[in-house]
Amino acid sequence: MALAIMCSGGDAPGMNPAIKKFVDYTYKKGQDAYLIYDGLDGLIDNKIKKAAHKDVSGIVHFGGTIIRSSRSKRFYEYEYRKQAYENLKALNIKGLVVLGGDGTFRAMQKLSSEFDINFVGIPSTIDNDIYGTEYCLGVDTSLNVIRDALDKIRDTASSFNRAFLVEVMGRECGYLAIVSAIVSGAEICIIPEIEFQKDALERRLIQEIKEGRNYILAIISEGAKKTPEIHSWIEEKFGMETRVSILGHIQRGGSPSVYDRMMAFDFTIRAIDYLLEHNDSNKVVVYNSGKFDFMEIEEVVSKRYELPKHLIDAINYLD
Ligand code: F6P
Repeated sequence: MALAIMCSGGDAPGMNPAIKKFVDYTYKKGQDAYLIYDGLDGLIDNKIKKAAHKDVSGIVHFGGTIIRSSRSKRFYEYEYRKQAYENLKALNIKGLVVLGGDGTFRAMQKLSSEFDINFVGIPSTIDNDIYGTEYCLGVDTSLNVIRDALDKIRDTASSFNRAFLVEVMGRECGYLAIVSAIVSGAEICIIPEIEFQKDALERRLIQEIKEGRNYILAIISEGAKKTPEIHSWIEEKFGMETRVSILGHIQRGGSPSVYDRMMAFDFTIRAIDYLLEHNDSNKVVVYNSGKFDFMEIEEVVSKRYELPKHLIDAINYLD
């Protein structure tokens, strides 16, 4: 039996350790390991190569993914999905480990509803926005990149009478923003899931400024789409010169943290074991309360991730 691994959608730190573990563990289990390059586009174009141990040696400390990724538009069309399936079949690949996020899992659900394909998805996105799992590969590294940037921005913010607005990634999910706001001691956190409490924040900050506050650090989740509005609001209401930093794609880079390397190890071993023990698998490995489990792809893609209540509540405790 042959197994293959692929990354699709936004890359996430931790993918390389997962790819290395995939190759080493698949061979250890006596099966052949294949690498699919360039994500779903590569699957369509048959960029599938049998892996050797040397292909994955010395990669655990690299961010990104050595097999690259893509956001494939062609995969929306049936004829290309059929081509992808035939490429796997020709190589006798019976199981697929797929590292990706929501969009990737939707694509896999479509493929598995049309063709006889076994796969296990590993939630991998810095956004941490996949239903059914508390943790997605890459989040810890990304949070550490953001924390490092925020610590530095606070140094300069506190040296002036200024406000700094820092926009972080996360698509429609405020997870990165809330956790970053907590760990950096930010005064304001704006996320898509919660209405921005302008009046309450205004009263609080006016009071704090009277008491000596001379700078503000605000974290804004990109999905809230409120950066220009908050910028004008702070300048007008508090008369504070305001600077904006959009952290952008640096949040997706960097050497995977210890936690992401460990999670890559655990997610991958479980995905492979599951594929080897079942021949009708359309699952995602999920991680909750310290335990790994498997969830049907239908369930994962049909429901929406919700931020845990304690994180939503944390916004009220930032002052
Ligand atoms: O899903 C990961 C992510 O980095 C989001 O946080 C961000 O909105 C998006 O991908 C950016 O996509 P791209 O790399 O295609 O610009």
